[in-house]
Formats: sequence, structure tokens, C-alpha cells
Amino acid sequence: MQELTFKVQRYTPGQDKEPYLQEFTIPFTEGMTVLDGLIYIKEKVDNTLSFRSSCRMGICGSCGVLVNNFPMLACHTPVEELKTDRIEVKSLPNFPIIRDLVASLDLLFEKHKSIKPYIISSDIREAEEPTAEYVQSREELESYVQFAYCVKCGLCMAACPTVATDALFLGPQPLGQVYRYCTDRRDMGAKERFHEADSPHGVWLCHLAGACSEACPKGVDPALAIQLLKRAMVFDSMRLAKKRQPVTLAHLPVESKPKIEVPEFTVK
Ligand code: FES
Repeated sequence: MQELTFKVQRYTPGQDKEPYLQEFTIPFTEGMTVLDGLIYIKEKVDNTLSFRSSCRMGICGSCGVLVNNFPMLACHTPVEELKTDRIEVKSLPNFPIIRDLVASLDLLFEKHKSIKPYIISSDIREAEEPTAEYVQSREELESYVQFAYCVKCGLCMAACPTVATDALFLGPQPLGQVYRYCTDRRDMGAKERFHEADSPHGVWLCHLAGACSEACPKGVDPALAIQLLKRAMVFDSMRLAKKRQPVTLAHLPVESKPKIEVPEFTVK
């Protein structure tokens, strides 16, 4: 491969009636990613092209785009893996376009916030001023840790056929996180989150297409989390759920806690 043809979606609201594709021919270099191609176009060919990226290593989740009709992280997608020299890049479906390849993920973050994505503790004082550490067994950690790897890139939401037909459907990312927090033994907020997930646009609309898990770049498997969540909610409504024991606290001797000096550059 000597050259690549990038067909990139362009769209400026208020100026363009609808998105269109613009073609760029750029040189191929070994090991380059789709993000490298976009950066080349912006730096050498057309500096008006808009896309989002930050870490360039599959961690921040900001570079999600539709590559040859599949939602992917641009920085995590080597061109060679696409097995073609023609690469079509569009903004993520199921999200409004801000400009070119930049989609607005506001709705995803709103939905994520609605499921209370944090540990809800029964001991407010301990949560706010911790005096000890929570003890978790390896099995307890393994029950949810896979679902905690979510980077909120929105690829699962872009792939979901139910989100495509019902914008209010909570969707695989927030529902997966409902399961993640409810399985964590430090958390006591299952009832509140089950209430949110049991809404007309909640968990029961998922018909297990599995597209979310296929698209997830971090192996989170939201489809599995949603099925496990359905089971947990049914057990809860039938009062068959095991009563949750409060998590154990380990009071460590004060001298065993690491003393961390505040670096000078830290804002007070
Ligand atoms: S730039 Fe951070 S995940 Fe791609």
C-alpha cells in the first residue's frame, strides 16, 4: 500500500444543508492509525477539518468515529487492520453532529449521570471522611471490574439499534454501569438505580442485538451486563435477591498509611 483514500464526512451547521463526503489521498506509512490519517489531513491538506482526540492511546474515549460503517476509536484502529486502502470516516451515528466528525455526546453524559455512577454508601460520615479502607475479596472485585473499564466513548450507543429508534432509551453504556455499581458490595444504591432502569425507556427495551459488545473497544461487554441486570432486577422484584451484607472496613494503623507530600505545583 502506497496511498490511502480517505472519504471524510464534512458538515458545518448553518452552512451545509446536510453532511457530505470529501475525498483526500494521503501517503500510507507503516503502523499508521485512522487518527494518524486524520491528523495528516488536518496538518498538511485542510486545516478546517474538525475531529476530536486527546490521549491517542485508547484511554480517553474522545476519538470515536464511524470507520467503514463500524464504530471505532480512530486512535486504536491501525489502517492495516481494515484490509483496504479506501477508508470512509463519519461521525458517530445516534448523536447530533457539532461539526464534521465531532458528535455531541451530551445526551450520553446526561443518561450516565441519571444512573448515579458513584458508590452510594449507607455510612455517609465514613464516605465523606474515610477512616478506614473497604475490604473486597478477589471474587467480589471480579464480579464487576470488567464493567468498570468503560471509557464513555459512546461507541456502544452508536452501535445500538434500539438507541437508533428511541433516543430516550437509556442505552448500553448507562445500563451497563447500573449493573457495575449494583454489583459492587460497597454500594447500597441498587433500589434507586433499579427504579431508573425500570422506566418505559429502560432495560426492558434491550432485545439483545449484541452490537454494543461488538463495538466496545475495552471489552466491557455491555450486552452481558444488561442481561445480568435484568436477572438481578427480576430477583429483586420477586424478593429472591440475597440480602447484601455491608462491606467490611479495615482500620489501618495510622503509621501504615503512606504520607504523600503535596507537590509544589499543586493549586492550593
Ligand atoms: S484519542 Fe483518546 S481514545 Fe483515542
